[in-house]
Amino acid sequence: MNRRYRKTIIAGNWKMNKTASETRAFADEFKALLPKSKWCDIVVCVPSADISAAVRAFKDSRVAVGAQNVYFEKSGAYTGEVSADMLADLGVKYVIVGHSERRALFGETDSIVNKKVHAVLNADLNPIICVGESLEQREMGVTMELIALQLKSALSGVSAEQVRRCVIAYEPIWAIGTGKNATGEQAAEVCTFIRATIRSLYGARIARSVTVQYGGSMKGENAAELLSHEDIDGGLIGGASLKADTLMAIIHAANQN
Ligand code: PGA
Repeated sequence: MNRRYRKTIIAGNWKMNKTASETRAFADEFKALLPKSKWCDIVVCVPSADISAAVRAFKDSRVAVGAQNVYFEKSGAYTGEVSADMLADLGVKYVIVGHSERRALFGETDSIVNKKVHAVLNADLNPIICVGESLEQREMGVTMELIALQLKSALSGVSAEQVRRCVIAYEPIWAIGTGKNATGEQAAEVCTFIRATIRSLYGARIARSVTVQYGGSMKGENAAELLSHEDIDGGLIGGASLKADTLMAIIHAANQN
């Protein structure tokens, strides 16, 4: 992390877990554990059906609510989809875009991810843009090439002013939900490369202001080590964000650096 130039952001990604009632119960428990001092930004990305409950439950706290997906069109005949304006109107602040589960299970291409990034930015929200390689790609030695491609494609047409509002999450697919996190060195190598890629596109001043997270089996036990690296500015957390105490353990780890 480097708090001087950019935000440290700890973001939970609940995926398709918790009802609205369970969301309220989580919020009560989590708010009671929140430390008084603010050493990082906290986001909880909930399922669409829980957004209203989450916004209400976290009102008057420093926890921002995020969404896990969005559709890129503004409105119209797109049965089942939710627009960025709808999310903004509900009080959402962040939207995860291009998560590997959406890429793999719902056919999201780099081009769709790019359209969604624009939709999120145009609604004055902050995209959390996910990039990451599969185990096969890592073993083939094409990780950096793939990350550069995903990142450049996601940011295509995004202005320098807008990119300051983007969060990049490096999520190696082989580390997601597997309990096997990337080592600090592996994660830092790619996060540093992500910042270098942003630098090549937008210049040094902007690159140093962008938050780059690591995601993939992050938990209380490994968070401090991961976050001790200069270019890892937070985490996108799945499994460990489902319980108030395990998410809070990561927030405390962020304070050790
Ligand atoms: P995990 O998920 O922490 O359960 O590995 C991370 C993610 O998918 O964002």
